[in-house]
Amino acid sequence: MAPQFEPLKNDLILRTARGEKVERPPMWVMRQAGRYLPEYHEAKGSHDFFECCRSPEIASTLTLQPIERFEGLIDAAIIFSDILVIPQAMGMEVIMVDKKGPHFPEPLQGPDDKQYQEVMEREVDVKESLDYVYKAITLTRQKLAGRVPLIGFCGAPWTLLCYMVEGGGTKLFIQSKTWVFKHGEESKALLQKIAELCVEYLALQVQAGAQMLQVFDSWAGELSPTSFKTFSLPYLTYIADNVPKRLAELGLESVPMTVFAKGAWYALEDLCKTSYNTIGLDWLHDPADAYKIARKYGKVLQGNADPGVLYGGREAITTVVKEMVTGFGGGKQGWIANLGHGITPFVKPDDLKFFFEEIHRLAASSQAAGNEASEEPSARDLAMRGEPSKNLLHGI
Ligand code: CP3
Repeated sequence: MAPQFEPLKNDLILRTARGEKVERPPMWVMRQAGRYLPEYHEAKGSHDFFECCRSPEIASTLTLQPIERFEGLIDAAIIFSDILVIPQAMGMEVIMVDKKGPHFPEPLQGPDDKQYQEVMEREVDVKESLDYVYKAITLTRQKLAGRVPLIGFCGAPWTLLCYMVEGGGTKLFIQSKTWVFKHGEESKALLQKIAELCVEYLALQVQAGAQMLQVFDSWAGELSPTSFKTFSLPYLTYIADNVPKRLAELGLESVPMTVFAKGAWYALEDLCKTSYNTIGLDWLHDPADAYKIARKYGKVLQGNADPGVLYGGREAITTVVKEMVTGFGGGKQGWIANLGHGITPFVKPDDLKFFFEEIHRLAASSQAAGNEASEEPSARDLAMRGEPSKNLLHGI
C-alpha cells in the first residue's frame, strides 16, 4: 500500500504545473541541495557521495537543508540522489571522484563489448535495486510534513547513454557520437531499454511519495535538431506517455512531469507537443520568446536564469529576475522560477536567498501593473465569456 502523509500546506508548484492561474510564481533551483551549502559538507562528512544517496537518513537530511534555510521562499524539494543510479542498477560501476565528478571504470566500448550484451540482456529489478531511493523519498515526505511538494527525477536516456559510453563527463563526446552515428540501431535498443527502466523507476518514486517528476536531459544540446529527433525526443516522449499508464496500473494518480533538455533550444516547440506539463529552459532562451511559444500550447515553463549571475552580485541578480518576471508574463501563470541549470559551487547562499526574494518582490509588483495572468480575469477572458471587463466598465 502507498504510504500516508500529512496534507500539503503549499501546493503552489503543483497548481502552476497543471496550468492554473496562481497568486505568485513558485520557485526552487536545480541542485539546491549541494556543495554551495556549508551544512551540506557538514552532514555529508566523510561519506562517499553514493553512500549518501543510499542512506535514506542522510539523503533526506540533505534534501531538507535548502527547505529549512530558505523557509517560506522555496516551493519544492527535490530528492537528493543522482541520475547515475540507473546505470548502477543496470550493473555498471560508477564512482564519484572528489572535485572531478562521476567516473565509470568500465564504460561500454561498443555493441560487440560483452558488457553491452550483458546490459541489454539483464532483467533489472527496478523495485529492488533502487529500493534505497524509494525509502529516502518516503522518509523525506514524512520529514517535510506537507511543507512543500517533493520532486522525484531521473536522467534522460540520451544523457545516460553518454555517461555509460564516455565513462564520465566529456567535452568532445567522441564515444557518444561514435555510438549513435556508427551503431545507430544498437544505440536505439539501449536508449529504449533505459527509457523502460526510467518509466518504472519514476512510477515507483511516485508510489513512494514523489509528487512531481523531472527528466534531466543535460546533454541534449550536443545533438543537432535532426539527431535530437532521432536519439532523444522519442525516448523522452516514451517516458512522458508511459509513466501515467504505469501509475494507473499501480492504482495511482498522475503527477505533473517536467522535461529539461539543456541546450536543445531548437526543440522548444517539439517539446511543447509532448505530454510533459512543464518544459525546463536553460539560459540560452529569451524568456519572452519562449513564453509566447509555450502559451500557444498551454505549457508551463521552468527556468531560466544563468546560474553564473549568482556570482555577479545583487544588481546583476535584480536585472535577470526583472527580465524573467516580465518575459514570463508576470509570474501568475505558466512559469516556475528556477535557474537555467544547477546551482554551482562557491555561490553564496545569501545571494541565492536574494534571488528568491527578488522573484517574490518583482512578481508582486508586476501584479500592481496588472498583467494578463493575474487573479482578475483579463479583458480578453471576459470578452471570451461575453462579459464586459472591469477596465472597460471603468472606461480605462
Ligand atoms: O537538485 C538537487 O538538489 C538534487 C540532487 C541532484 C544531484 N544530481 C546531486 C549531486 C540532482 C537532481 C542531480 C542530477 C544530475 N546528476 C544531473 C542532471 C542535472 C545536471 O546537472 O545536468 C547530472 C548530469 C548528474 C551527474 C553528476 N552528478 C555530475 C556530472 C556530478 C558532478 C558535477 C559537479 O557538480 O561536480 C554529480 C555529482 C553531484 N550530484 C553532486 C550533487 C550534490 C556533487 C557531489 C559532491 O561533490 O558532493
